[in-house]
Amino acid sequence: ARDPVRVLVTGAAGQIGYALVPMIARGVMLGPDQPVILHMLDIPPAAEALNGVKMELVDAAFPLLKGVVATTDVVEACTGVNIAVMVGGFPRKEGMERKDVMTKNVSIYKSQASALEKHAAANCKVLVVANPANTNALILKEFAPSIPEKNISCLTRLDHNRALGQISERLSVQVSDVKNVIIWGNHSSSQYPDANHATVTTPAGDKPARELVADDEWLKGDFITTVQQRGAAIIKARKLSSALSAASSACDHIRDWVLGTPEGTWVSMGVYSDGSYNVPAGLIYSFPVTCKNGEWSIVQGLPIDEFSRKKMDATAEELAEEKALAYSCLA
Ligand code: NAI
Repeated sequence: ARDPVRVLVTGAAGQIGYALVPMIARGVMLGPDQPVILHMLDIPPAAEALNGVKMELVDAAFPLLKGVVATTDVVEACTGVNIAVMVGGFPRKEGMERKDVMTKNVSIYKSQASALEKHAAANCKVLVVANPANTNALILKEFAPSIPEKNISCLTRLDHNRALGQISERLSVQVSDVKNVIIWGNHSSSQYPDANHATVTTPAGDKPARELVADDEWLKGDFITTVQQRGAAIIKARKLSSALSAASSACDHIRDWVLGTPEGTWVSMGVYSDGSYNVPAGLIYSFPVTCKNGEWSIVQGLPIDEFSRKKMDATAEELAEEKALAYSCLA
């Protein structure tokens, strides 16, 4: 039998946490043969709710679930974890300035970075979900210098999946037949959902999505804004955030990272820029990546047209501003 993998979920008593922990315990994240031990962290005001989640995990009798740690102690939560999914954070409340929200989150991610660095298992993989996701991940990276930067990422897979969904709906094809969209940049409304390289599997082989859609105005207009604004549309409809799809996408992100992307398929991940595609180095930016042997690499050599270039630069600029704001909050 395999040794269990320890998976940390911070903010586990929250909405996404509630959707995510049963998926992990059922093997959606790491596969049906991989036992897991869940580490769940939340803050003291949510301790009772967190304990309720733990009770439900016991009651669900998941065969793969070999243990549950539910705690408000960051060190206990981080100790020995192989995978860390950082969902906990401070939400923007009415009347709050962007800077106030940033200050709260920067201090959370700074202290949790140190705890992970000191107590997580060697080679722990980190996925930041909580917003501002790219910048929280960047702060985590900067304050956990001994964790290799290739082990720190943020979630843009939900945006990627949303883009696949929009194309499948538009063409009335199965979403599983659509692949290789790209989310560039920030997990915010400045992100650039790019379908220029996407393909659709048809009985006559793979065809460019752009050719099948045959409506560049849509691809440069409503397609982009629908994906960018989808989170807000879900909140408007549900009066709650997109917890189900965020949790599912977080599982997709880790699964592909650990087990590899299928041959010929790439996915989007927020990762530390090495300057590829002239994206400034030193930002956590969403790129197309393939994964193999537990490591991602940025897909190279895709042709970038002028329209795309502008959008890619605009979202990079926003990330540079966020980074500056984050640093001003630390000072
Ligand atoms: P939520 O408010 O229901 O849950 C957040 C949880 O984090 C709460 O239980 C809270 O007590 C906890 N928390 C706060 N500070 C903490 C700390 N220092 N340590 C540990 N836990 C802490 O929010 P929800 O809907 O679950 O969303 C979580 C985050 O994910 C938000 O920041 C949201 O904006 C973000 N999000 C990101 C998406 C993405 O695609 N990257 C998609 C959807 C949401």
